[in-house]
Amino acid sequence: MTNKKFFLLSGERSTLPQAELRAIVETYDDKARFEAINDRVMVVDGRFDLKTILKRSAYANAGGNLLTHCKIENAEKSIKAIAFDEFMEDSVSFAAYIFNLSDQHLSGKMEAIIGSAVKERLPKAKVSLKNPQNIVIGIIFGEHLLLGFTDYMEKRIWKSRRPRARPFFHPSALYPKFARGLVNLSHVKEGDLLLDPFCGTGSVLIEASIIGINTIGIDVSMKMCRGSMDNLKHYMLESLGVINSDALMLPIRNVDAIVTDVPYGRCASSRGIKTMNLLQDFILQADAIIPKGRYCIIVHPNTIELNNLDAFEVKERHEVYVHRSLTRAITVLRKR
Ligand SMILES: C[S@@+](CC[C@H](N)C(=O)[O-])C[C@H]1O[C@@H](n2cnc3c(N)ncnc32)[C@H](O)[C@@H]1O
Repeated sequence: MTNKKFFLLSGERSTLPQAELRAIVETYDDKARFEAINDRVMVVDGRFDLKTILKRSAYANAGGNLLTHCKIENAEKSIKAIAFDEFMEDSVSFAAYIFNLSDQHLSGKMEAIIGSAVKERLPKAKVSLKNPQNIVIGIIFGEHLLLGFTDYMEKRIWKSRRPRARPFFHPSALYPKFARGLVNLSHVKEGDLLLDPFCGTGSVLIEASIIGINTIGIDVSMKMCRGSMDNLKHYMLESLGVINSDALMLPIRNVDAIVTDVPYGRCASSRGIKTMNLLQDFILQADAIIPKGRYCIIVHPNTIELNNLDAFEVKERHEVYVHRSLTRAITVLRKR
């Protein structure tokens, strides 16, 4: 069997889903190779655990270990040729799920073909839509079918952590899905230390903590620090510290990554300093505490450009429309 996996990305109309997936995979296998089939489907050749990627990701909706990539017209023949008995036990319960990105009504037909092909190889296998041990997953796009298997297909629930659902609310709070995506762009692994120096209500700290990253938050406002701590506690999460301090005088020596959403507009006080100046000064601070090769993810209005970047390579820049007067830019910096 190959090391190829495929992923179905959410259709956000942004470059973020692909970038997030690349970043998470690179975190576990820096030699992985990527093939973007289109903006929603990505095939990745590498040695990493599919479930780890799917559990962490904000924008990958599903994925599978690749079994076949074929034309729809040859699908039946290709599916029947798959040795399901090589990776499934005979008495296993299974389900077939098809994500159909084409405009042809093919899902039911494909699921039926898969069901009978599995049964042919594994006569004792039982279909279980509720709680299958193995899932045969397919994506139909254009004239093509990608088929694979997985044992993980949980839906991530963001609703319970949306800004209004947390005990401490502020209008500047980021949505959990977006905050998770930012954490993933920073290439942090379980046990690494991530800093959010403008932590506000703690959105980034919460999403990083959930996936096993150690965090430190800083905010110049005591109210925000307390609010961040209340929010973390509400989800039974802990940060190594939420420090009431100025991000331009960082009380920290060394972190593995910085992920932050800088203050701008009316919602986020920057104590009279213009966002552009604050950012310029902050970049110098970031340079002092980030080791070579590590990442700094900065969210800022797209009307403001980052300066003082000599110590960093600008790896990527993404944009996300928020409303008429705000489009967020996400700049991915890597320390040289
Ligand atoms: C855009 S908000 C962050 C929102 C946060 N990402 C969230 O989801 O809640 C920016 C935060 O920076 C804080 N801030 C402003 N100037 C600061 C400074 N010089 N040092 C540290 N924090 C500062 C503000 O109090 C505000 O909470």
